[in-house]
Amino acid sequence: MPQVTIHVAPGPYQAWIENGLLARSGSVLADLLPQASRIFLVTVPPVRKRWGAKFVRSLRAAGFAPQVLSMPDGEPSKRLSTVERLAEKLVGLGADRKAVIVGFGGGVVGDVSGLLASLYMRGVELVQVPTTVLAQVDASIGGKTGVNLVAGKNLVGTFYHPRVVLIDPATLKTLPDREFRAGLYEALKCGVIGNVELFLRFEQNRTRILKRDPAELEWLIAQSVKLKAEVVSADEHEGGLRRVLNLGHTIGHALEAETGYRRLLHGEAVGWGMIAATNIALRVGRTDSVTAGRIADAVLSLGRLPEVNVSSRKILARLQSDKKTQNGVVHFILPREIGKVEVASDVPESVVVESVDELRRLSRGGWVWKK
Ligand SMILES: NC(=O)c1ccc[n+]([C@@H]2O[C@H](COP(=O)([O-])OP(=O)(O)OC[C@H]3O[C@@H](n4cnc5c(N)ncnc54)[C@H](O)[C@@H]3O)[C@@H](O)[C@H]2O)c1
Ligand SMILES: [Zn+2]
Repeated sequence: MPQVTIHVAPGPYQAWIENGLLARSGSVLADLLPQASRIFLVTVPPVRKRWGAKFVRSLRAAGFAPQVLSMPDGEPSKRLSTVERLAEKLVGLGADRKAVIVGFGGGVVGDVSGLLASLYMRGVELVQVPTTVLAQVDASIGGKTGVNLVAGKNLVGTFYHPRVVLIDPATLKTLPDREFRAGLYEALKCGVIGNVELFLRFEQNRTRILKRDPAELEWLIAQSVKLKAEVVSADEHEGGLRRVLNLGHTIGHALEAETGYRRLLHGEAVGWGMIAATNIALRVGRTDSVTAGRIADAVLSLGRLPEVNVSSRKILARLQSDKKTQNGVVHFILPREIGKVEVASDVPESVVVESVDELRRLSRGGWVWKK
């Protein structure tokens, strides 16, 4: 089974990736956490309904008496009030310092559970069991936890690593199609950043990927996790190298914000953002037209992205006030060739505006959806 080690200061931990792992998770956790007094699963109704019984059965068979804590589904519940309510429930259930919190769901559950585990009794063990593509390839790896404020997303959070990440790609079977594809853009991003073979799979095995072929997904997720783990291991707190993971996110975040977080799923915004970054790279001579065409095709061939009818000037203004802006300079991660990116801080405003104009043109149907 693919196991990827994440090397970070509190101590290394592993991500296990295997189809069917959920049914074996009890024995895996019993080996890893022999001291665990109690296990508390934090989850949302859609995940509990489809996969809860299987997970709980496996934990019981391994001698645990798991308790399930439900939180409301969706991004609006990623709030401090949810963390507080869950903490109160934990106290009510008698959770002590030896409690283990398991984040069982998508990125929302993972971020809330991570923050909860880092705060409850000043920190208890955390296990991540992600069930969306986005959470499996991205959110569950790297130790970032957080919740949203009215003023913006992820403004309150901690760095807190799980003891282990258990990834069962088979759980993706029940994911709604749009959520599934949105996560794939983050996996594709990993290919562009640093894994040529992964990128080639998207070009060559797209149909199998979109049909959710189990072996294909297992491989693809393991490769994406490996890439993220390598970057996080080299740069735990987003000093320099970790920034490469933001490919597609500079413009992607601005698009999400400008459309009120309603029109685009995060992964879809990253898809558009990667096309914009590629377009910028081409215009400033950092990449060639063949590479740029391959990246844009790979993004667009995963399905139709929602239209982005935004003002380029407004996007530019958002970039300039973004929290990632340092001294008024906007940093872009630009693809150079497949598997190689670089940081650029000298992109002229006019080029940014043109590349966003290009997104608008593309999204109005200027491209053909390949089957
Ligand atoms: N911590 C990090 O490093 C990091 C990185 C990227 C994103 N994030 C965060 O992740 C969040 C987005 O995560 P997401 O895209 O997973 O969204 P999500 O957690 O809202 O899940 C999407 C939907 O899929 C449902 N779902 C989950 N698993 C399912 C399954 N197996 N079958 C059927 N339905 C299922 C959920 O109930 C939800 O309705 C954002 O809040 C973002 O900020 C965090
Ligand atoms: Zn992302």
